[in-house]
Amino acid sequence: MYLTDEEKRILDGEQGEIARRCMEFLVAYGEAAGAEKLIDIDGTVDVHPGADWVPQYAVTVDEVRELAAKGEKFKVPTFSNKPVAPGFIIDGWEACGLPRNSDPEFHRKNLEALQPYMEMGMVPLFSCNDYLVSSFLPLVGQHCAWVESSAIPWVNAILGARSNFDGCFHTAYLGKAPAYDMHLDENRRATVLVRCETELKTDMDYDLFGWAVGEAVDIEVPALVGIGKPNYSQLVKMNSSLNTGGQVRMYHIPGITPEAPTVEAAFGGNKPREIVITREDLRRVYDKLNYAGKTEVDFVYLGCPHYNIQDVYRAATLLDGKKVKTKLWIMTNPSSYQVAVRMGLRDIIEKAGGILMSGTCPGALLETPEMQVMATDAAKQNYYLTGMFYPEKLDVWYGSMEDCINAAVTGKWSGEWR
Ligand code: F3S
Repeated sequence: MYLTDEEKRILDGEQGEIARRCMEFLVAYGEAAGAEKLIDIDGTVDVHPGADWVPQYAVTVDEVRELAAKGEKFKVPTFSNKPVAPGFIIDGWEACGLPRNSDPEFHRKNLEALQPYMEMGMVPLFSCNDYLVSSFLPLVGQHCAWVESSAIPWVNAILGARSNFDGCFHTAYLGKAPAYDMHLDENRRATVLVRCETELKTDMDYDLFGWAVGEAVDIEVPALVGIGKPNYSQLVKMNSSLNTGGQVRMYHIPGITPEAPTVEAAFGGNKPREIVITREDLRRVYDKLNYAGKTEVDFVYLGCPHYNIQDVYRAATLLDGKKVKTKLWIMTNPSSYQVAVRMGLRDIIEKAGGILMSGTCPGALLETPEMQVMATDAAKQNYYLTGMFYPEKLDVWYGSMEDCINAAVTGKWSGEWR
């Protein structure tokens, strides 16, 4: 891989051992990915703070403390996704009932470990959809390094900025990323036309549609036509399931995606093959995501990806004046949590017996509530939790927010395909 003189000097240790290790990581990763060079990030970086994915290049919390003590900063605007390894609940942990997460000391220590990242400039948004509450977003064509399944298609397809799945300490500290895949024009063009032949109206429709398309196109770049006018909640859901049912990191909605004013522009000269998604495809995914044997439900999880403030408002309105019979967690981002407190929505949820939380999810906590049968309105959460419980059996019901809240109130699943 071509390196500039400055990059070579960093690799030789001129800027210290941690910068050297970060550069070594970017070079090894870039070469494995077939990148010819590194690009300078001129957009933003999104990190899962605390994670060290590749042990030989790991930067420990103590090393980050040392850097912060010397006054070192991230080279580019850096935002935090939910913390992982360990994941922990940012707000609402006191009532969660989980052994590790109910311990105030566990909570305090984890927050303390994130302090040096913040001193280096990381903005603590702590959410898988931090892009919904960030007040600083990249513009069209800017190069970024983001993480998270719903965020990657969001940055590429909705914002028109450019990112692979490589937001981490290393990209943020050096402000560089390997120049491959989504950073290059030719990989961003659509290769498959997806014609939606069923009307998409509800959040669940978009969640199921995203999954069906993901399964059908895997890692290709689809151009989506006939999908109506999704709102923000629906787009976020569609993104997360596109990149869970498949590996869609970029798509085009002609007229919405900045690079695709028209279908022709989306393909940029590529010859499209065409697939059609029908109501039957959505039904097939719905059936796949519903695999509970018993109708009794003991845990309901809402907020994957993290609910925005409108979603929290809708859920609280459905719960107002009711009492739940199951455990009910509603997850949002910490910013919307504060707004929900101000609006009295947390009180409504708590009066009903549910818990409003922020900053994580069961799939990231490595400990889950005691449960046998869960209900959720998110294809992505359904997929991850099942994997976490493997080879134990977890029964899962999947449906709309209304179906799930109904299950929480009655203790029974009565959702059905509509
Ligand atoms: Fe977010 Fe967890 Fe879902 S991190 S996207 S709530 S699996």
